[in-house]
Amino acid sequence: MPGELRSRDSLASLTTMGVGGEAYSFSPSKPESLRKAISKCRENGWPYLLLGGGSNILFADSGFPGLILSTKKLRGMRIEEKEAFVFAGEPLPSVLNHLNRVGIPSLNYLSGIPGSLGGAVAMNAGTAMKGIGDSVLEVAIIDKNGETTVLDRNACEFGYRTSRIIRERLPVVWARVSLDGEPYDRVKIVSERRARQPLSARSAGCIFKNTTSLPAGFAIDKAGLKGYSIGMAKVSDKHANFIVNLGGAKGAEIRRLIDIVRQKVYKSFRISLELEIEVIEG
Ligand code: EPU
Repeated sequence: MPGELRSRDSLASLTTMGVGGEAYSFSPSKPESLRKAISKCRENGWPYLLLGGGSNILFADSGFPGLILSTKKLRGMRIEEKEAFVFAGEPLPSVLNHLNRVGIPSLNYLSGIPGSLGGAVAMNAGTAMKGIGDSVLEVAIIDKNGETTVLDRNACEFGYRTSRIIRERLPVVWARVSLDGEPYDRVKIVSERRARQPLSARSAGCIFKNTTSLPAGFAIDKAGLKGYSIGMAKVSDKHANFIVNLGGAKGAEIRRLIDIVRQKVYKSFRISLELEIEVIEG
């Protein structure tokens, strides 16, 4: 099967948080090898996990007891008139670089978001106002029978930081995205983000979803948790909905910090924060 198999891959190096033990990994370089690898895992009952850019996930210090299927080698995109066809592993920043080079600014609302196209589509990444699902036309996934199936936008059931794709854990192969729409200023968006968010620190972006009553960052800040730390894991001084890895943080430290934040916010505001990131058991 075309791709790269590793027996002791570092999960810390596969994630922006930089945390996690080791695991077997396979990075298919062709959609067909992704499909075959998934079928093999299913046939043999091996646990597996699809990993895109690793920017919204927290692994355990003990690693992952199965196969990590990384889409990092499933790259490539082409522009066809007012649409882009993008493979799952293409990093979102590189999609935007490409589009901006040819003068297409309509997806710039995604500026500053790390991660892969596949991961972004699965979790409907974006801002509070707009998610990539608003631009998606169709998505090819691997269905429960191991076949590649194309879902149109409605079938993806996009919601705030969610979709049917992530709920049913459907591996994304590629997506077709509309390039129509209003332009966004990439430089302005990135500089605004840089001013409010700790973009140069290791993190997984926002840890919790905003609630209908309060933004999570506001609630965590008002609960007095900015700067609170456990070991090398710290609630960012810049934006309270980010936990930053100061260097060598343990997964266990970040989990404890998450629990404490939840408890304190519940005590202060009677709201239960829901995770935006995926926390994977070891
Ligand atoms: N706030 C505080 N203290 C803080 C952080 C925020 O009081 O430490 C307040 C802000 O002043 C503002 C409100 O909380 O009144 C909301 O904050 P902000 O404008 O920074 O936006 P956000 O809701 O925290 C959302 C997304 C971000 C996205 C930004 C910019 C969520 C959970 N977060 O943040 O997404 O970058 O809007 O569009 O939806 C991510 O998904 O990983 C992420 C970072």
